[in-house]
Parts: sequence; C-alpha cells; structure tokens
Amino acid sequence: MRIIIINGPNLNLLGKREPTVYGNKTFEDYFSELQFRFKDVALEYYQSNIEGELISKLHEVGFDYDGIVLNAAAYTHTSVGLGDAVKAIETPVVEVHISNTHKREEFRHVSYISSGAKGVILGFGLQSYDLAIQSFL
Ligand code: DQA
Repeated sequence: MRIIIINGPNLNLLGKREPTVYGNKTFEDYFSELQFRFKDVALEYYQSNIEGELISKLHEVGFDYDGIVLNAAAYTHTSVGLGDAVKAIETPVVEVHISNTHKREEFRHVSYISSGAKGVILGFGLQSYDLAIQSFL
C-alpha cells in the first residue's frame, strides 16, 4: 500500500505557526510517528508553498499510488486548478484539515477540493492525518 501525504502552503511552519490553532509539533516529527504507527504502509510526504507544484505532484502520483492525503491549506479555499487536478486523477484523495474550518472565518467554509475527494476529515488536529490513512486500509 503506497500512500502520499501532500501538504500545501505554510504547513512547513507547523510547530511554529499559530500554535493555538495548529499545535506545537513539527510535521517532520509527526510524520516519523506516522511511519512508526503504519509500518505496513509505504508512506511518503511532500510539501510545497506553490500551487503549480502541488498540481504537478498530484499528476505525478495520481495514477499509481493507492491513496493521497491532501491538505491543500489555504489553496483549499481558492484553487480551481487544484480542485480540477483532484478530479482528473485516478488515485482517491482524502481531504484533510488540522483545524475545524467550519468553526473559523467564512472564507474557510468553502472547499474546491471536497467535490472531487473520496472523503473529508477535519478538526481532529494532526490526528486528522491518522484517520485519513486508516480510511485507505
Ligand atoms: C488548514 C485550514 C486552512 O484554512 C488554512 O489556510 C491552513 C490549514 C488546516 O489544516 O486546518 O493553512 O488547511
């Protein structure tokens, strides 16, 4: 089972960024824990702050991998291109958010990803990624 986690803009700053919203663990530390918990899964991680790079990554992995866990971060709420890419590929995508975006500002209530996603998991902190991986098993 081959699963990739794709994180969008500013998620490289997890641990430092708005800790009251996103917690104080770096994604690298959390990713090591995930690898330990899901030993039977070939887990990969990719992060970019650039919309086109995220789209290209979806194209690259979207016909071979078994699952994609996508936190498109702020692009969730703005990117028709990322939403189209999710619909264009074959690998199922689970949309993930650390925070409960529906409890936050109204512009975060819109997602261009959800209509193409297999499912959406949000609001469970970093555990949202655990739940998304489990959904593929
Ligand atoms: C986020 C929520 C988005 O609204 C925000 O822009 C992010 C992170 C989350 O994981 O809670 O960068 O996707």
